[in-house]
Formats: sequence, C-alpha cells, structure tokens
Amino acid sequence: MSRKTVLDLQKMKAGNQKIAMVTAYDATMARLVDTAGVDMVLVGDSLGMVIQGQADTLSVTLTDMIYHGRCVSRGLQQAHLTVDLPFMSYQISPQQALQSSGRLVKEGGAQSVKLEGGERSAPAIEAIVRAGIPVVAHIGLTPQSVHATGGWRVQGRSEAGAQQLMADALAVQRAGAFCVVLEMVPAELAAEITAALEIPTIGIGAGPDLDGQVLVCNDLLGFDSSFKPRFVRRFATLEDTMIDAVKTYVADVKSGLFPADEHTFHSKSRRAKVARLY
Ligand code: KIV
Repeated sequence: MSRKTVLDLQKMKAGNQKIAMVTAYDATMARLVDTAGVDMVLVGDSLGMVIQGQADTLSVTLTDMIYHGRCVSRGLQQAHLTVDLPFMSYQISPQQALQSSGRLVKEGGAQSVKLEGGERSAPAIEAIVRAGIPVVAHIGLTPQSVHATGGWRVQGRSEAGAQQLMADALAVQRAGAFCVVLEMVPAELAAEITAALEIPTIGIGAGPDLDGQVLVCNDLLGFDSSFKPRFVRRFATLEDTMIDAVKTYVADVKSGLFPADEHTFHSKSRRAKVARLY
C-alpha cells in the first residue's frame, strides 16, 4: 500500500470528498489512526503540550519534530505525513525555512511540512515549494504567535480581521501551499475562504464547510477530561478506560492475581525445590 500524495489530497477537494486529518506523535498511535483510515497524519508541534506537558508550543525544537516525525513515519502505511516546522525554525529567513524543511523530510520522514502565518510566511513557502517540498499553511489562530495575539481566541471576527484572513489564504495559495489549515475562525468566514480557494482547507474550530477537519488525537480519543474546548468532540473517553485498566492491574499485582500461570515460564527441574520453600 502506498502513502497518499499531495495530488491524491487535491483530487479529494475536486471530487467533494472530505479529508480527515489527525495528529499523532509516535508509531503506535500512527499505526492505529492509519488503520482507521485517516487521510493525513500531522506530527503537530502541539506535542509540546500533549507529550511534553508544556503550557504552549514555543519551546518545541526541530530535533523534537524530527524525532517524532521518524517515529510516526514508521507506523504509517497509507496516510500522508505532514510534520510541523516549530517556532523559530522558519521565521528568520526563507533559507532557514528551507533548511529546516529539508531536515524534516530527510531525517523526519515528512512528505510535507506545515508552517504558521499567511502573507508574512509567503516568502518562506515559496522557497520551500521551489525546492520540491510540499507545504501546508496554517492561518487563523496560530499558536506560535500566542503572545502577540493575546491568547487562544477566535480570529477574523471583525471586518478588518476577516479581510486579512482572506488575504492570508489567497497569499499562501499564491505562494504554492497545497493545503491550508484554518484554526478558530468563524464558520461563515471559513466557508467563504474555502469557496475562494482552489487548494483544500482543513478546519479546526472553523465549522463544517471546509474540505477537511483536523483534531489532536488525544482530544478526539478523550485522554484528558479537564481539556474540552468548544471545537473538540470526544469520540471516546479513553482516559476512563485507561485509568480503570491500570487500577485493575495495580489491584491484581497487590492481591497476587497477576501474573497467573499462563503468564509464567517454568523450570521443571526447579519446581520441586521451590514448592518446598513455600
Ligand atoms: O500542532 C498541531 O497539532 C496543529 C493542529 C492543531 C492543526 O497545528
């Protein structure tokens, strides 16, 4: 089985087929979401929060992204793999953006890279695309700019903000991005942008009228009941399932129910000796 390509994903927009994208950070999760049939897997810099326990994504390094990209890449059979360019790995210059993207492809197994920003990131997108590396752009709420935007807020609510977002979307398409993520944008504006673009739009907190949706795998699977932004639907509550399973393990270890005989290796010659000890 071969991995989905940029062309496959673009054909999905043309054929009105929705794109399902989800994050993954290790080979096991990658294997599971790939088997479930997602079209795109994103190694998001959300791993700073979800995996590393940080308050935001700003401290994630290119080395972190390469490591997790390589892990996820090993778990995929059919889904397309996009890896995030982390904060300060592409903002300095288009050359820096290209160098970092090259490492995500060569060392991190990425088929495409994702970066944040609209008009301001167009020169970086052009440089990366010119080198033959497909780019996913990310506009709307851009978590790497959290200190400038003043928090995790819906973007594009004002007329000026909406016009800027439309300009950003058109700029990244013009620069050569093959796809764009819209995060925390009013549904009506996201629908307008989707209609205006030839490239697929993927939404997170942007309503239903996009070409696809993305969620963080831990949110979708319900790993953390204390985190429930409006745009997340928990398709399972694995937090409860996992805590219950581990509670049972703890109880069975303490009571001696685990390990049972079927989990145990025996030595016939020593059995009689040990039996005498007990
Ligand atoms: O880092 C990430 O997981 C993301 C998605 C939420 C789009 O950028």
